[in-house]
Amino acid sequence: MKAIILAGGPGTRLRPLTCTRPKLLMPIANRALLDWTFERLSWAGVSEVVLAVNYMAESLRRYFGRERYGVKVKYSVEPRAMGTGGPVKLSEKLIKLEEEETLLIMNGDIWCDLEFSVLEAAHRRNVSRGAVTTITLYEVKDVSRFGVVELKPDGRIAAFHEKPSGRVKSRLINAGVYASTSQIFSYIEPRRTSMELEVFPRLASEKRLYGFQHKGEWGDVGKFEDYLKVNFKVAEALAGEKPRVEGSAEYNSTVKLVPPVILGDGVKLGSGSRIGPNAILGCNVKVGENCQISNSVVFDGVEMEGDCLVKGSILGEEVLLGREAKITGGSVIGDLSIIAPKVKLSRKVYVCPRKEVNKPALGPKRIV
Ligand code: GTP
Repeated sequence: MKAIILAGGPGTRLRPLTCTRPKLLMPIANRALLDWTFERLSWAGVSEVVLAVNYMAESLRRYFGRERYGVKVKYSVEPRAMGTGGPVKLSEKLIKLEEEETLLIMNGDIWCDLEFSVLEAAHRRNVSRGAVTTITLYEVKDVSRFGVVELKPDGRIAAFHEKPSGRVKSRLINAGVYASTSQIFSYIEPRRTSMELEVFPRLASEKRLYGFQHKGEWGDVGKFEDYLKVNFKVAEALAGEKPRVEGSAEYNSTVKLVPPVILGDGVKLGSGSRIGPNAILGCNVKVGENCQISNSVVFDGVEMEGDCLVKGSILGEEVLLGREAKITGGSVIGDLSIIAPKVKLSRKVYVCPRKEVNKPALGPKRIV
């Protein structure tokens, strides 16, 4: 099996954090989002991955190099944004598929515990019935943000509706992971084009599109709410009822850790602090006395003085919080920003990287 991963979007909904890193390097439980995927690809015996890159391509190239977890990595660099289909077509010349070899195509901003070998086996069965592509499907309550499929009892997709505005009966959405034969390339034109709006509807109308339902964990990391949700889900799975300490951490018995909690290597927690539930602290985070951190992700190298509160928020790399600063309600602080003592930022205040914030703010608001 070989794979093409779409990795070139600008990730505008995750700004300010994607001002300084591509979305696919955002940490999920202290590990880059795409590393989780690479590991699973390697377990499934995938030999080669083409990363279709555009925005911050050089960061991805530097991070993943030529091989990751034993999987060979190639890069397809686009001259301009080409949607979700164009990059796949452009990657064709870098991928040499053996006769009947399966090609995985996926959105890079998905976190899931899908076993790719199980998807491949389902796809091979579908190919014998005429499939070109098998889409991984996931059941959700609100389908309006996704591509929704109508599935026949034999697993064939009868229709594909991208982000439906009206009522649809199905709850099965496109999970952004596809298994294909090499014939998929002949369905995509070499221009800016959309798999969801152009390629899949055509394959469905030709009865060559099938579905495979994934029943494990799945989440796309498109918005901050989703990003936090995926982090907490993974933290719960990894850490469960005990705090997970990665390497060494320093704290005394006055610190209360309320699981799920993940502490990166070199974390220091001041006396009387309360960490969790749902707190993920990166490497070398330093927390002063009597701080409280819950439902939040704190990136590497953050430092906060005493009596700070961080709730339902995200602090980018090496952010500094002055004494009694309060960051709450889905606020997001860009890398290297400094929040002055006693400043309160609540309700979706987004601070650009390297800003110094000296006044309180109530969002929704961007501090640029
Ligand atoms: P937003 O700007 O917040 O919508 O995020 P995004 O840029 O990542 O777009 P979206 O969430 O629709 O992207 C889904 C997947 O496709 C992600 O893995 C993106 O990296 C990828 N993607 C989106 N546009 C492009 C593109 O033009 N080229 C490539 N190679 N990948 C893309």
